[in-house]
Amino acid sequence: MRVLVTGGAGYIGSVAVALLRRDGYDVTVLDDLSTGHRDSLPADVRFVEGSVLNSAIIADALTDCEAVMHFAAKSLVPESVAKPELYHDVNVNGSKNLLAQMKLAGVNRLVFSSTAATYGEPEVIPITEISQTNPTSPYGATKLEVDHAITEAAKRDGLAAISLRYFNVVGGIKLDRGWISERHTPETHLIPNLLRSTSANPIKIFGNDWPTKDGTCIRDYIHVVDLIEAHIAALKAAKTGSHEIINLGSGSGYSILEVIAATSAALGTELPYEMTARRAGDPAVLVADISKARTLLGWQPTRDLAQMVNDTYEAAQG
Ligand code: UFG
Repeated sequence: MRVLVTGGAGYIGSVAVALLRRDGYDVTVLDDLSTGHRDSLPADVRFVEGSVLNSAIIADALTDCEAVMHFAAKSLVPESVAKPELYHDVNVNGSKNLLAQMKLAGVNRLVFSSTAATYGEPEVIPITEISQTNPTSPYGATKLEVDHAITEAAKRDGLAAISLRYFNVVGGIKLDRGWISERHTPETHLIPNLLRSTSANPIKIFGNDWPTKDGTCIRDYIHVVDLIEAHIAALKAAKTGSHEIINLGSGSGYSILEVIAATSAALGTELPYEMTARRAGDPAVLVADISKARTLLGWQPTRDLAQMVNDTYEAAQG
């Protein structure tokens, strides 16, 4: 089976490409290289350079494909607060273009990269898939709008679809050709930034006045390889005319101070940090209930926070 991976040159998409190839799938990648890297891709995939805003390019990329994994999106919470129109355009309009072209091409199977940011500030922790959705950022709002469009397409056109709502994705994968891991410019994510923290330039912690046990935000961190193994299971599990929404996390929450302690322990050095004001768009606590992923996908995360930190560190060493 040939799978179209949109955003396949990005961090999470390129790990998907690697594991799909490992499992014997043929792969086409559609990526505009706005944040992705061409050198993250193996030579044996078809690469189409272009945007999900261009319907003709999507149609070309869909040639011979039977399924789509859709990662192409703008994905930073703080950037989305500054540029909401850009997020709406790429994430919502781009995904609607993709759905329309899939219908025209008769491609009926979709795994969508959704997010825990769709839930906003949850009323109950851990978060289940029937929890209220009330996004605190334009990023979360755009992904929620796409989830709704996919539900409609499943009802109307018989699409077989699964949306996977990621919590905080970390780590990398070591391939024969080297590590694939986060390479964002600028880097906004906690663990990669923490690894660069020095006493001259300590990492800034965004708020210690949140309603949590130590005042810092709590997140649920998941290793990128566990995450993509769930995508491959979802590709097989999707059923015609049905749209399932499934959380992907580890099921455990860590405060930022706990992540700093775990990272310091893994590195054998006390990492410096300084407290600053809250960042716009952040909810206080996001922790997943992952029972639906276990049941529907037969999936279980196996890589812990120490491995996420170690892999991120190893990848940064090259
Ligand atoms: N943080 C800091 N300092 C930093 C970076 C982050 O204090 O330098 C804090 C943030 O304020 C937040 C936590 O660390 O409380 C995690 O922040 P990240 O930027 O690493 O990740 P986010 O939680 O903002 O977002 C990530 C993905 C989203 C996804 C979300 C779901 O980027 O796409 O997880 O939980 F929606």
